Amino acid sequence: MVPRTPTHQDSLTSADVRAKHREYLFPAVANYYREPLVLAEGKGLRLKDLDGREYLDFFGGILTVSVGHANDHVNAAVKAQLDRLGHVSTLYPTVPIVQLAEKLSSITPGQLRKCYFTSSGTEADETAVMMAQVYTGSTEVVALRHGYSGRSMLAQSLTAQAPWRAVPTQVAGVKHALAPYCYRCPLGLTYPSCGVRCARDIEELIRTTTQGRVAAFLAEPIQGVGGVVTPPKEYFQIAVEIVRRYGGVFICDEVQTGFCRTGTWWGCEAYDVEPEIMTMAKGIANGLPISATICTPAIADSLKSLTISTFGGNRVSAAAANATIEFMETHDLKTNAARQGARLREGLERLQRKYPRVIGDVRGMGLMQGVELVVDETAGNRTPNPEATARLFEETKARGLLVGKGGLYGNVLRIAPPLVVTPADVDEALSKLDESFAAAGA
Ligand SMILES: Cc1ncc(COP(=O)(O)O)c(C=O)c1O
Repeated sequence: MVPRTPTHQDSLTSADVRAKHREYLFPAVANYYREPLVLAEGKGLRLKDLDGREYLDFFGGILTVSVGHANDHVNAAVKAQLDRLGHVSTLYPTVPIVQLAEKLSSITPGQLRKCYFTSSGTEADETAVMMAQVYTGSTEVVALRHGYSGRSMLAQSLTAQAPWRAVPTQVAGVKHALAPYCYRCPLGLTYPSCGVRCARDIEELIRTTTQGRVAAFLAEPIQGVGGVVTPPKEYFQIAVEIVRRYGGVFICDEVQTGFCRTGTWWGCEAYDVEPEIMTMAKGIANGLPISATICTPAIADSLKSLTISTFGGNRVSAAAANATIEFMETHDLKTNAARQGARLREGLERLQRKYPRVIGDVRGMGLMQGVELVVDETAGNRTPNPEATARLFEETKARGLLVGKGGLYGNVLRIAPPLVVTPADVDEALSKLDESFAAAGA
């Protein structure tokens, strides 16, 4: 980590920050760990807390820090842009924003060409659904159980996990299809003899719970918050064909899976489907707030009303995004995500063989992997085990490893390091995980 000039932050200890957090923030802003961790500085994958303890980051700010903390290339672009021009809003076109839009249109699949910029994944999904509704003239939308779309009223209505829904469904017309969650198949079937019935059921859902036409099918290629639920390879072709037959478009939510995370630019590439609308956020600008909705020209052209997002396309965030994408290309992070992802997966499967009782499932793609913890897989008892997950969390923290958590029951480890991770980092994380499983009594 680089030496830096002391700031007012240096007068506070971790205990001070935790106390102020408890006093002044909504209690619902949940922190990880029995004693929340106050992170103060970082470089690459290495972080330090306010008390000087070091950590290896395998969650990257919930998959936002795609090219490493304090990345020199991105930070130089941010500083240069900050010094050059204050915020001007979307009322004026700027260089960073048109450069970013052009780039996104060249790296996204199929006919995706026109961008709308906002500041969060929630807003990108909101924009996508609105565009699908305007374009198709229908309002009903198919989303997926266990999916996560954010925290606005619409995004909470799209989200299908009770713990993330503060209020009852507010937006009518959202229909939730069965999740392609093979480990806990909602139909009690087994892949591949199931014939991917969960996808085929979308036809029955549309015919019985909508007017027979829909605006869209919105889904994540891998359900991140849902616990890295990874659909079988045929899933999207079947689901999207049905939705198109009933007038809808496919909105692919790449907020987590985008930007090389899964070993390709986009998660949907593994499924060989091209969406009409794609949303992205998180890893786009290495942690600066920006999101995008990109769609076909016909869909973009269908919006005739005025629309503005004051901070959408913020020129500093856009400059960060341009530099982040440039860094990904120059360092071929797509290949690194595939290679290190395979190494990580192999190691996690080794741990599954070593701790077969508690590790029920290992799944994911590239550098987006999940480990589902259950009561006793060897005895066929797949009851979710959030207690073991919480114990493991404390043990990994004690060994200086940060990972994430997800799933409806809070029993899935989410492992997603920045894409600049090295083989040595992967091995270190696996060995810390191994020690943590042993210490947690797995
Ligand atoms: C797939 C997906 N979509 C949308 C969102 C919402 O993004 P944000 O929290 O930036 O509003 C998230 C956030 O985790 C997400 O994982």
